[in-house]
Amino acid sequence: MTTTKQDRIAIIGAGLMGHGIAQIFAVHGFQVSLLDVSEEFLAKAIENVRANLTLLAKNGIGKREDIEGAVARIKTTRDLREAVSGARFVVEAVAEQLELKQKLFQEMDEICSQDAILATNTSVISITEIAARAKGRKRIVGTHFWNPPYLIPLVEVVPGDDTSHETVDLTYDLLKSVGKHPVKVKKDVPGFVGNRLQHALWREAISIVDQGIADAATVDEVIRNSFGIRLPVLGPLETADMVGLDLTLQIHNYILKHIERSTEPAPILKQKVEKGELGFKTGRGFQEWDQESIQRSRSQLLEYLIKWNREHAKE
Ligand SMILES: NC(=O)c1ccc[n+]([C@@H]2O[C@H](COP(=O)([O-])OP(=O)(O)OC[C@H]3O[C@@H](n4cnc5c(N)ncnc54)[C@H](O)[C@@H]3O)[C@@H](O)[C@H]2O)c1
Repeated sequence: MTTTKQDRIAIIGAGLMGHGIAQIFAVHGFQVSLLDVSEEFLAKAIENVRANLTLLAKNGIGKREDIEGAVARIKTTRDLREAVSGARFVVEAVAEQLELKQKLFQEMDEICSQDAILATNTSVISITEIAARAKGRKRIVGTHFWNPPYLIPLVEVVPGDDTSHETVDLTYDLLKSVGKHPVKVKKDVPGFVGNRLQHALWREAISIVDQGIADAATVDEVIRNSFGIRLPVLGPLETADMVGLDLTLQIHNYILKHIERSTEPAPILKQKVEKGELGFKTGRGFQEWDQESIQRSRSQLLEYLIKWNREHAKE
């Protein structure tokens, strides 16, 4: 079983992630159906795709003359049956709510063609739980993209307890064919691989601030100027092998008991949310933000990711 460019791709949810995932498939020549709850959200999603592609073309990724063709391959709809009609591969990217996703997968399983694969872009929820109410669970799989999905290469392909090998392999091959860097996760655990690692680091970072060991800017400065520089070429397990597992064991024997291991969010995080200190959204989070610093932060990230993609496209 393989997918071809004649196969339709359906994306359910046209928000931050959904519009970017639709863009990936459209750029690679697939016909895409994009569904959301209002015409306004759908129009915004198409506008975002056009703006993303224009920015990329301006920076030497893709051609200006291909933009409208890619945009035209995305057909928008508010009707689920219409969205998934003829779709061979469906990616769900609605809000991160278990109940909503369970209901959607039950419904999609009933109306999608028998050979369609149904993927969820959940960040952390177990694929088995999301698939729980559907009958055709062997075709339900996790595809965890990262934001922005058209600039971050990785997609974690996660099988639920009942997902078939065929579903995983086909999903992996399809993602590779559209330029992504898929990896196969062996077991369905909350957070998969990437977000378990990311949030282990965030838990410790927040705890360090909560305990008054360093302020938030210093924590980020430490990471960006130390192991953060190494990470793109040297992951933690290769680093462990490099420094030696004997030294790693000695360090862990001493340090692990001092590292944060709470199963609850940090008090400082709860307090800030209660006070409405939400970060960029409200101008204050772990640090103070004005429009200029917010814009600078967003632009720095985008420029860095575009440069990274340009350099890697040449390889
Ligand atoms: N934002 C990220 O960085 C990120 C990264 C990886 C994965 N994810 C996951 O991707 C999913 C989507 O996240 P997002 O950031 O794009 O959210 P978002 O809020 O930007 O977009 C979600 C969209 O789904 C739509 N929607 C809600 N209910 C719907 C329904 N019943 N049918 C159709 N559309 C519906 C909303 O109108 C909205 O446009 C979540 O599961 C999230 O955890 C997010």
